[in-house]
Formats: sequence, C-alpha cells, structure tokens
Amino acid sequence: MPEVRDGVHGRGVVGEGLLTSGFTRIDGVLNCEGVGIEVLAREVGTPAYVYSSAMVRDRYAHLDGALSVLPHRVHYTLKANSNAGILRVLREQGAGVDVVSGGELFRALRAGFAGSDIIFGGVGKSADEIRSALTAGVLLVNAESEAEVRLLDRIAGELGVTAPVGLRVNPEVTVHSSHRYIKTGEKGAKFGIPFDDVLAVARLTAELPHTRLVGLDMHIGSQLFRLDPYLDGTERLVGLLEQLRAEGIDTIRYLDIGGGLGVAYEAEQSPDVERFARALVSRVAPTGLTLIMEPGRFIVGNAGMLLTRVLYRKHSGGRDFLVTDAGMTELLRPSHYDAYHRIEAVTPRGGQMMADVVGPVCESGDFLALDRAMDDAQAGDLLAVYDVGAYGYVMASNYNTRPRGVEVMVDGDQFAIVTARERYEDLVRLELDEPEWRQG
Ligand SMILES: Cc1ncc(COP(=O)(O)O)c(C=O)c1O
Repeated sequence: MPEVRDGVHGRGVVGEGLLTSGFTRIDGVLNCEGVGIEVLAREVGTPAYVYSSAMVRDRYAHLDGALSVLPHRVHYTLKANSNAGILRVLREQGAGVDVVSGGELFRALRAGFAGSDIIFGGVGKSADEIRSALTAGVLLVNAESEAEVRLLDRIAGELGVTAPVGLRVNPEVTVHSSHRYIKTGEKGAKFGIPFDDVLAVARLTAELPHTRLVGLDMHIGSQLFRLDPYLDGTERLVGLLEQLRAEGIDTIRYLDIGGGLGVAYEAEQSPDVERFARALVSRVAPTGLTLIMEPGRFIVGNAGMLLTRVLYRKHSGGRDFLVTDAGMTELLRPSHYDAYHRIEAVTPRGGQMMADVVGPVCESGDFLALDRAMDDAQAGDLLAVYDVGAYGYVMASNYNTRPRGVEVMVDGDQFAIVTARERYEDLVRLELDEPEWRQG
C-alpha cells in the first residue's frame, strides 16, 4: 500500500470541511491529482502554473453547499484567476462570475457565461465598460458613487434598457487582514459609497428613469478569517434595506456580501463556512433576499502550484541564495504583500537549508521567500511553490521582457496546457516598427 500524504504538509485544509489537497506525495513522489510533477515539468517546462481541477470543484461545491441554507448565488471573482480552464470548470459546476473590468467581462462571455450570470463591479468603470456590461445584460452593476449611478442612467437611456444597479456600500467596519492593501471596507477606503451617503444615492437610483435598485453590496477585504466583520457589515446592509423599504423603495432583491474568505498559506485555518452560513441565516433569511458571495481566493488559492527550477545556488554575505527561473514576475505576492508561500523540493535530497529563494529579475525586491528553512536544493532541482492559484498568474508581468509561463490544468490522470508559454514575439507584437507620425 503506497503511503499517500497530503501535499499541503498533511494539514486539514478548511475548518470542519472535507476538502482535500490536489497535491499529494505518493511514496515520496509529488503529484497533482494523478499526474507526476517531475513528468509534467519535463513535458511543459518551467516556470509553470499547475492547477488541480478537482480542488477547484471541491472548493466551489463546499461553499455552495454551505450556503444552501439560504437562497444564494456564488459568483466566482475572475480577478483571482481568469484562466479559461478554471472558468470552464466553474461554469460546469453552475457558478456565476464577478468581473471588474471590460477585459474580464470579455473573458467571462468568451468562457460561455450568460450576461445574467455576471456581476460587473469595479471602482473606476469607464463609459465603454458600462456600455458593454449593459449590452451583455448583466445581472447587476455594482456602482460605487453617485456619479457612476448618473452615468449608468444616461448610458442605459441611450441603449433603451434599464440598468440593474447594486450599490457597493462601504460598511465601515473593522477589518482584520494580513496586509493593509487587502482591506477595503474601512472608513476612508477608496472603495464603495461612504456609509452616510448611501441612502441618498439609493433614493436617486430608485428615482432615475433608467436605473433600478436591485442590490446592496459590500466587499470588505481579502484573506479574512474572522467572521464578525462580515456579520457586522451584513447587519449594516440589512439596516439600510429596512430604511429603504420603510420609504417605499422595495425593488432590492440581492444582498451581495463580496468575497474575501481566507485560505491557508502557512498554518492558518480557513473560516468554517458552514458556521458562517448558519450565522448569516438569522440576519438574511428574514429579508427574503438572495444572498450573493463573490469568492476568488477561497475557490482557487490552494488549487494552484508554481513549478520553478533552480538556476544557481550561491553564497553571499553569509547567506545561501537559490536563484530560480521564477520570481516577482511570476508571483508578485511575496514582494507586494509580504506574503508567505510554502516551498518544497519536488524531489527532496534529504537535507535542509536556510535559503533566500530569489528570481532572475534585476530588483532587490524580487524574491519568493527570504530566510526560509526548507529542503536542501541545488542547481537544476525543481521547486514547488504552493498556493499560487489566486493572484498568481493574473498579477504576472513581462518586466525585464520576461515571457509569462505556461498554465496547466490537471484533471485526474490527464493534464492540458490551457495557456501557452509566451514567446519573445508575443511581447513585441503590438509595437510598431514603423510608427505613423502625426502632426500634434
Ligand atoms: C469586489 C470584489 N469582490 C470579490 C473579490 C474577491 O476577493 P477574494 O479573492 O479575497 O475572495 C475582490 C477582490 O479583491 C473584489 O475586489
């Protein structure tokens, strides 16, 4: 009987849930589902992002199941990972999507989502983006200011449609998150409508001829583990709903509480979504509204791994450096958010080392891990950087004219490249060798 070990260091993944990792070691050999990682790296090269379909399905089903105590919709947030392979898996599961740009709307429609499966959000929507969203017939446009509501009304009028508007409220609650860049629901944030202004904007939305107020929305932050800010925010939204209903504004159908559920990168315990759903019931059920969640990280965060090869091992200033073929261009999170990602040798040599795992980019901020106690590794070895399914590839860049790596979906014992590795020609495709000079 081979020894099967959870690749996520044998830890349980979510609260009391049954979620398993898509990455396991069988007799010491690292696999993604039924595919050996060494084999996969030989086939597709590095850097490579490897996603487990089973884990994406599992996470979605887990959250969807937990929320089934209420009328609800789960709209996966594309900004976490907009790959068509991931979208295909989630569409088959029955998910809706949440997009924050015209580009993400384009991707969602291209992946086969109907307009009515799409929520369009974002703090700075252009008129063109609003036009595209209304033309696509989206379920909701989550508006973030009075000016945006007025623009929605004008464009809807021009198109001869009624804009289904959700108001993104800043509930101004205390948010506990690992980094200040991923808090969005506190007073003074650029996101949402300041709490004290919401009623006035709601009345306006109800009055304008081409807008219909159908939702109240919040998104308070990301990588959240405490449930109280969600519950506090939900209560604030319900309070607004009651005031509006008392004034005779009775068109609201959706209560959208955003995304933000945390996942384990190190030893964290993800929120227990069953308990979360039970806590929401008493607050949301009496309203008769449909609850919406917009999870990104929770669905895909742990479902992806970045495979990178050690190019050089060097010693400098008393430190050991592993210089890898992936760095901040492939995974910005360590540099941008001080984020921790576990790193293992795909085929461990047996020893341990203290290392700075750094990329090839000409920046001191280009690293995957600093001062890390990890598997001993040498030039040529493959490293697995875990939990890169969310905010990995989507934040990758071509800085230093580095082509972005390949994205691979694994499903059982099969794998497929879902995004090809960029070539140098791809990086200069839009540059004009003979620009047309015009009179200024
Ligand atoms: C409006 C909105 N909804 C949902 C999300 C998804 O957040 P997460 O990936 O933390 O679930 C984000 C991400 O920041 C967002 O801005």
